Amino acid sequence: MLIIKDISNLQSYLSAYQNRKYSIGYVPTMGALHKGHGELIKQSKKGNHKTIVSIFVNEKQFSSKEDFETYPRNKGFDYDFCIDNEVDILFEPSSEEIFKNDQTLLNNKNFKDILCDKFRRGHFDGVITVLDKFFSIIKSNKVYFGEKDYQQLKIIEKFIEEKYKSLDLVSVPTQRHEEGIAYSSRNEKLSKKQTQDFVDFHKKVKNFIGSLEGSLDIETANEKANDFMKSQDIDKLDYFEFRNDTDLSFVGTLSQARLFYAIYKGKVRLIDNLKV
Ligand code: PAF
Repeated sequence: MLIIKDISNLQSYLSAYQNRKYSIGYVPTMGALHKGHGELIKQSKKGNHKTIVSIFVNEKQFSSKEDFETYPRNKGFDYDFCIDNEVDILFEPSSEEIFKNDQTLLNNKNFKDILCDKFRRGHFDGVITVLDKFFSIIKSNKVYFGEKDYQQLKIIEKFIEEKYKSLDLVSVPTQRHEEGIAYSSRNEKLSKKQTQDFVDFHKKVKNFIGSLEGSLDIETANEKANDFMKSQDIDKLDYFEFRNDTDLSFVGTLSQARLFYAIYKGKVRLIDNLKV
């Protein structure tokens, strides 16, 4: 596996691939890799000649310096993980190089003021800004994202439609621990007790969803969701609501919906979404 840290070196390698008409699959990450990333890599390897993974903790998508500084970083492990998963190129540029020519923050206009955008203002501006840089440097044929960050996935889908028409976005279902909770880099920050609480919460949520009829309209289901949350012992709630899984609106029945939630265990913010 090649570990490349600067853009010009990377582009030399990529042009050799492109000259050979290799198809390139790209998996963008912020490191602290886990099974969810492993699945993205696996799908990329299946669908392309070469797979490139980037590790870049993007300061522009964090709302506080503390959150950025305490985001899990696990370099040695990440290198082993990429080698074990047979990644071809690991791209790990510096923040200076990525943002040196242009610091402009792009302005996301899609799926605004709902779900995470409502509680993490500017977060998705930071996400599309950094992806814009990476997409234009790497020029891959395909790019891979997980369904766990579903709103992010929808926003990127639109962004690619608008600006990178020849890039194929491949979405990959959420990978889960045996106990049901999704793999997430932020889980590393949970204590044993918090993890267990979160597992219990997830089980209750699954049972709650199972108790609802698919023909129920989304608005009524959300009244029940409010009642359900009143009896839950969580540290802080951002949102817990059903939305149509195509346009993230409140229109339709439960069978067309996902349940989206963002909760806190201690200071750790956990998000997930479950297809009904
Ligand atoms: O999902 C993530 O890890 C990040 O938001 C992404 C897409 C790598 C952009 O920094």
